[in-house]
Parts: sequence; C-alpha cells; structure tokens
Amino acid sequence: MDRIKYLVEKFELIPHPEGGYFKEVYRSKDIIPQSGLKGFTGDRNFCTSIYFLLTSENFSAFHRIKQDEIWHFYEGSSLSVHVIYPDGSYIKHKVGLNYDNGEEPQLVVPAGCWFASEVEKKDSICLVGCTVAPGFDFEDFELASKDELIKEYPQHNEIITKLTRQ
Ligand code: GUN
Repeated sequence: MDRIKYLVEKFELIPHPEGGYFKEVYRSKDIIPQSGLKGFTGDRNFCTSIYFLLTSENFSAFHRIKQDEIWHFYEGSSLSVHVIYPDGSYIKHKVGLNYDNGEEPQLVVPAGCWFASEVEKKDSICLVGCTVAPGFDFEDFELASKDELIKEYPQHNEIITKLTRQ
C-alpha cells in the first residue's frame, strides 16, 4: 500500500521486534535514577514517545512492559488492542475515532498487562502514538512465549495462539 511506504519514509520508521514499524519521537533529557524507581534495572528517562504503524498484514505480538503505556490514535482504521490483566480478565479495546462503535482515541494499558494489537480491517493500516513514563527501555520489554502464556491463562488460549509467534 502506498500509504505504508509514505509513512515509513516520511517518519523514518523502522521494523519493531514485536511487529509493525516505529520511530522514537521523544526521549526526555532528564533521568530518573534507579534509586527513585521500583522494579527497574537501572536509570530511566522521565518519558518517551513513539509513532507506531501497524498493517492488517501483520500483528503486534503479546508482550508486556513495566510502565503504563498511553496509546493515541492518529490515522487509518481502528486498532484492536487485546489486553490480559494480571487478574486473568481479558478485554479487546479499540483505539480509533468511531466512538459510537466503542472506539476511543486514547487508551491506557496498565503496567504489567500482557497485550497484543492488530488492524482487523483488511488491507488497512493504523498509525498511533505510544507514550510511556518512565521512558522506554528494551530491558523492561518482555515478549510472551506462547506456551507459557497459555499455561498461565488457558482460558485465553485462542487469542494467545493467534497473536504470538514464539
Ligand atoms: N520504544 C521502542 N519500542 C517501544 C514500545 O513498544 N513502546 C514504547 N512506548 N516505546 C517504544
């Protein structure tokens, strides 16, 4: 699709290990020392944000991070964000602009939840922003193992199988 090529070139997006393309837009200069954080392995920037582009050909696999992540809708079709909460409950959120269809322009995925996302409409794309504080670090990022996640949440076997690769 032309729009994918346009956005990848325009914003210099690169492949993200979880699927899709991204580019870091903001990383605060100031640093929170590890001593001021709970559960982090080192110092972190105050805050970071990225553009994240996903297409219907791909998906963002189940992963989790140590920060709350705030999603902002920019353009394209809605993004389904599948969240498994620590208590075992599961919600499919929709990030988009069709409010009467249950979509919301901003979504917060709480720290520690397993989440995956996909563009369900065929031949479509979705451009969103993702902001985290403390700032993102791949040290805080964990890609789910399909078997281990199913073992922990067997009731969500179907969606986990669909949205994991390893
Ligand atoms: N920077 C690199 N990857 C990510 C991500 O998945 N989320 C956020 N918020 N920032 C990132």
